[in-house]
Amino acid sequence: MQKDRNLTIAGNWKMNNTVAAALALVNDLTVALAHVTAVDIVVCPPFTALSDVAQALRGSNIHLGAQDMSAHNAGAYTGDIAAEMLQELAVRYVILGHSERRQYHQELDACVARKAQAAHAASLQPIICVGETLSQREAGHMEQVLATQVRESLTGLTTNQMVETMIAYEPVWAIGTGKTASPEQAQEAHAFIRGVLVTLFDEATARRVRIQYGGSVRPSNARELMSQPDVDGALVGGASLDAQSFTEIVNNAIETNT
Ligand code: PGA
Repeated sequence: MQKDRNLTIAGNWKMNNTVAAALALVNDLTVALAHVTAVDIVVCPPFTALSDVAQALRGSNIHLGAQDMSAHNAGAYTGDIAAEMLQELAVRYVILGHSERRQYHQELDACVARKAQAAHAASLQPIICVGETLSQREAGHMEQVLATQVRESLTGLTTNQMVETMIAYEPVWAIGTGKTASPEQAQEAHAFIRGVLVTLFDEATARRVRIQYGGSVRPSNARELMSQPDVDGALVGGASLDAQSFTEIVNNAIETNT
């Protein structure tokens, strides 16, 4: 099925890979994925490898993303990284509000919204993560949780900024657990999120926003997930650390979109 929206496969390397390991991985990926034009490919190394990876990706079809950034432009924020610092390294995307940031760093939706605005001000495209925990799902609160996260993490974005923003639906219970959402569960959540975007913006805008699925995406399940009408790609953690499995996921995505 051909979708209007370009599929995007992004690798979230999390806190993995020294500079040397990062370069080895991207060197394999630039060769293995050199033929790809039908899918947008992004890798998100840790901050320490961004500069070297940016150079290794120059002239390739793979884009660079970061895993987080500060909402502030500069100043006394020890340990933080500003949007301008990322932009200087040819970073184009930035993951915001990942559940690990929400869980381990107490990031709230309002903070994610401020970061998203700072990202756009520096011409970076945010990938905003939302997703329910298992207990929220089991209590029947999935829709309420997603609606709140989407609405409050997108506060203040203009329509133009929204179409340059991706959303990643990442059910917390599926991240790093090997338990993937079924294609039906993913489709249901993605369609729901798109419906929230209609109420916040309008139908045409909602139709243009790419919504990625994340949570134990593997070569074995990527094709079925990506075949769903509202699933516009994947945010891949563990499987993005291996060149072969990431390449297979990209190739599977291409097959679903032809
Ligand atoms: P996983 O991580 O693919 O290892 O489950 C996905 C993510 O957290 O983005």
